[in-house]
Order: sequence, then structure tokens, then C-alpha cells
Amino acid sequence: MDLHLTDKVVIVTGASAGIGLATAQLLTDEGAVVVGVSRQPVESTIGDAGSVIAADLTDVDSASRIIETVVERYGRIDGLVNNAGGLHLREGFLSITEEQWLAAFQLNFHAARRMSRAALPALLKTGAGSIVHVGSESARLAATYNPDYAAAKLSLLSMSKSLATEFSPQGVRSNVVTPGMTRTPLYERRGGFGEQIANALGTDVDGAIEQVLNNLRPTLTRRMAEPNEVSAVIAFLISPLSSQVTGAEWIIDGGALPQI
Ligand SMILES: NC(=O)c1ccc[n+]([C@@H]2O[C@H](COP(=O)([O-])OP(=O)(O)OC[C@H]3O[C@@H](n4cnc5c(N)ncnc54)[C@H](O)[C@@H]3O)[C@@H](O)[C@H]2O)c1
Repeated sequence: MDLHLTDKVVIVTGASAGIGLATAQLLTDEGAVVVGVSRQPVESTIGDAGSVIAADLTDVDSASRIIETVVERYGRIDGLVNNAGGLHLREGFLSITEEQWLAAFQLNFHAARRMSRAALPALLKTGAGSIVHVGSESARLAATYNPDYAAAKLSLLSMSKSLATEFSPQGVRSNVVTPGMTRTPLYERRGGFGEQIANALGTDVDGAIEQVLNNLRPTLTRRMAEPNEVSAVIAFLISPLSSQVTGAEWIIDGGALPQI
């Protein structure tokens, strides 16, 4: 299927790993000019037309600098994927410090808010822009081990709906994708969330994933997602093929969320 993305300028945050890397790759393959934003260097997934901007999105000045650079380089912005995010395993509500709450919101909510704010004037200029925010099933599946992350991701849903309400009449859509457990470096990197759960459960990362899939977050597909199963939905929502989809939440969790 042709997603009609040829020469569209699309920013992907957190493009060096996992879902962001798969999204940058797919959008590039579809002909988009991808600008990958990340703290770490992005591998060669972004073709010659695209480029990389190194930034820590929790730095309050980074969003305006990124958008100025993109507009200077390409003269337009057609899409924004607010993907960067992450979490640390908590021992429960009483264990979370003030700094940890603020850090969770800085990365998982304010970074996307600031990027959206900075990009909107350019997106409005194209008259057909699309923003996709990467939420999490955690926003709707309460747990004792990540209440700060869950609250920040739920805030993303609210902001996306507000953006859709205000800007869809002017041509800029806003949607959320809600992944469930997805096999990315978030689970695989040393000291990462996967290792933190494994330590808490007294097993290794694969054992921890199995326990979560069997007990805590069973999926109907009986497995985790792969990053390309999330990036495919993101690319569709960035594409003009989804021009009637806005203010929506697309859940990609293998059926883990049980409620109607
Ligand atoms: N993997 C999962 O199971 C899962 C489930 C639900 C939601 N998500 C969400 O999907 C998104 C991508 O997750 P992933 O699993 O691919 O994670 P990942 O850890 O594999 O990759 C995260 C990316 O974000 C970047 N990043 C992190 N902090 C940053 C910062 N301060 N400034 C700039 N870039 C930063 C990293 O460099 C990396 O490129 C996140 O928002 C995450 O919360 C993931």
C-alpha cells in the first residue's frame, strides 16, 4: 500500500531504538524525509534525505531548537511522532520521590507537549499535518509498579484529544497509539526496565516477560508485540490515508486491555 508519504517531512523522537527506530525506518522506506531526534546516535535507518538531531527532550529548550533546525533545513513539517519515553520500576506509590514524579512527567508528557507546541505553527502552515503520540497500555491498566509513568501517559491522551479538538478544523490531526508489551531495548538493555522487573521477580528477563505475559498482562495473542507492529500503525496515522482519523486512541496490545 502506498502511504503517500513521499517527500513529507516527519520528525520522530526517540529514533535511536525500539519503536522509534522501527518508525523512522518504515517512514524512510515509504519515501518520507525523516528527522530522527535522540540522545544517542541513530543508526543508518534514515536515508540520505533525512537527518538526525541530538537532543535531550527533558531539556526545556530542546523542542524549540529542534523545530527551528528542521524548518531551516527543510522549510516545512508534515508530521510529528512523539515517541521518546520510558520508565523505572517503582516499589509503590509511597516509594516515589518528588524528583521521580517530575522526571516521569518531563519525559513522558512535557517533552511531547513542548514538541507539539513548537511544531504546530509549521504543521498548520502545511494545512494537513499529523501528530502521533506514543502512549502506553499502562495508562489504562493500573499497577503498583509504575503509577508515575501511567499518570504521565494518561495525560498524553488528554492532550492529544485537546489538540485534535482545537486543530483538526485547521487540518492538523492528533492521535495516540497505545502499545502493550513490545520487544525493544526498554526490556533488553542492561539496567533497563526488563532487568528491573527480572530482579524484582527473582528471574532473568525472559522469565520476567513470561511471568508478566502469563499473569500480570495476558495478551490474547499470547506474545509480546514486535516494534514493526507498532510502527505500522504510527505510519498509517501519519499518512494522509488516515485523514478522517483524529482524536483517536489506537490500541496495539494483543488484546490485553479487557474492558469494553
Ligand atoms: N516497549 C514497550 O513495551 C512499550 C509499551 C508501551 C509503551 N511504550 C512506549 O513506547 C515508546 C518507545 O519505547 P521503546 O520501548 O521503543 O523504548 P526504548 O527504550 O527502546 O527507546 C526509547 C527511545 O527514546 C529515546 N529517549 C529516551 N529518553 C530521551 C530523552 N530524554 N531525550 C531524547 N530521547 C530520549 C531513547 O534514546 C530511545 O531512542 C516510549 O514512549 C514508551 O513509553 C513502550
